[in-house]
Amino acid sequence: MLQVLYFSFCLLYAALGSLAAPTVSVVSNTELDPRGVYFVSYDGLVNVNSFQLSGVLTHGNFQYAAWYTSSRYAILARRPLGNGSWTTLQLPRQLSVSDSHNVISLGVSPADGKIHVAMDCHSTPVYYTSSEAGLATSGASWVASRFGGITTTLGGLGLGSTVTYPQFVITPDNLLQFVYRSGVSGNGATQLAEYRNGAWSNVGSWASASGTYTSPNGAKSTARNLYINGFTYRNGRAHVTGTWREQAGGVSCNGGGLTNHDTVYIYSEDKGRTWKNSAGSNIGTSGSNPVNVNTGGIIVDSLDSNHGLMNQESQDVDSAGQIHAIISYVPGRFTQCVTSYAKDRTSYARPFHVYRSSNGTFTKMEIPFAVNSVGRSQIVMDANDNAYVILPFVRIATASKASGWTDWMIAYDGVAQGLNAFGEVTVDRAGVAGGVLSVLYQVNSSGTTPSSVRLLDVKLNG
Ligand SMILES: *[C@@H]1O[C@H](CO)[C@@H](O)[C@H](O)[C@H]1NC(C)=O
Ligand SMILES: *[C@@H]1O[C@H](CO)[C@@H](O)[C@H](O)[C@H]1NC(C)=O
Ligand SMILES: *[C@@H]1O[C@H](CO)[C@@H](O)[C@H](O)[C@H]1NC(C)=O
Repeated sequence: MLQVLYFSFCLLYAALGSLAAPTVSVVSNTELDPRGVYFVSYDGLVNVNSFQLSGVLTHGNFQYAAWYTSSRYAILARRPLGNGSWTTLQLPRQLSVSDSHNVISLGVSPADGKIHVAMDCHSTPVYYTSSEAGLATSGASWVASRFGGITTTLGGLGLGSTVTYPQFVITPDNLLQFVYRSGVSGNGATQLAEYRNGAWSNVGSWASASGTYTSPNGAKSTARNLYINGFTYRNGRAHVTGTWREQAGGVSCNGGGLTNHDTVYIYSEDKGRTWKNSAGSNIGTSGSNPVNVNTGGIIVDSLDSNHGLMNQESQDVDSAGQIHAIISYVPGRFTQCVTSYAKDRTSYARPFHVYRSSNGTFTKMEIPFAVNSVGRSQIVMDANDNAYVILPFVRIATASKASGWTDWMIAYDGVAQGLNAFGEVTVDRAGVAGGVLSVLYQVNSSGTTPSSVRLLDVKLNG
């Protein structure tokens, strides 16, 4: 009798889903533009990159999205939350070059309700504009005249002539910050600026190119850049994971290629002024003493530069304030020496979930689905700390917190559903708090034939 009762209880418990990986259900799939600009560069599309913060963004009662249309003009779209329809406006800026780095990033400064846009840069000046105050909350008519002229400064703050990866984040006390790289791939610094009382100011560089890296083959490299998986505030802290890319091709087994190596983790308790490693030791000060490749105690997963490790994959932080990152690379069981980054990744790359437990231990677990692409995946955590990984082609893998994130399943398969997505996507991280995940993707095309830019909305865990 007890056994029967126990068995029934287990069935009920499983049926309630508490023990299973979370499901997702499609809410809508909306075409935002039938003719988004299309070209493949650096294995990616300019409208949908994993590192955009943000290409699609919920703030208050509205959701925003941005992309370049076939005329190469930057389009901003807005809809009221709760199934409203999209309205678009066209900014007076055309994509200057067919380079997939030159994404559009959106941010909102909560204090004055301005919408900020940074775009069209790859080791060049940034192109920036912001809206009239209050536009993010007023719902006033969605017209380009509500935005200021396009400048190559951040509202007067000069960022120099080599800006890449514009990202906006909101601090715990509701300031807007701007994260970017100065310099170039393999020789760049990660930088931070801050918007306060209507003005931008510089916080400084927090990860530099300096130091010496010695590869397994003994070759040395003396310059690099930190590629970040994100810059995520949670419970008062800014959390960053990332990987280093060396300037010297000789540090990899094939003598060239992309020399990404190691996964690092650092955090800040003072909005990016000073930095700590996972053990809580002070390791850096923005501006005067940025973190570098020789900083102690920051590597949380060691990997040499021979495995086709991806840069700028993604990260999120759970409700307990613990970091979760997705990294992907070619595991040693396939080869110890990636010779073609694109080809070997497409054939062999696997995604890994790397996360920190509250005792400071990092765990890395392989997610049992191939990447099947050069491209990157996105991770988001829901309100109950279940994990959702959006693999290329909008395959959504999920795992429950209850299982310790081990019960991975494909909860939505964009390939089987016939989405024909190009591959890499960008997601609405702020929107996840509302229980819905919005995935911006672009339909695969050929050459430079424009294709549909679409937004898939799925309800999380149900
Ligand atoms: C959203 O609107 C569409 C079209 O008006 C409708 O078919 C759909 O059921 C609505 N979805 C929700 C979640 O309200
Ligand atoms: C840290 O916590 C994790 C998860 O609870 C556990 O697996 C691991 O054994 C712990 N490590 C130490 C050193 O206590
Ligand atoms: C996307 O389209 C290109 C060009 O037609 C084709 O070569 C490629 O295989 C397609 N990708 C997928 C995943 O179908």
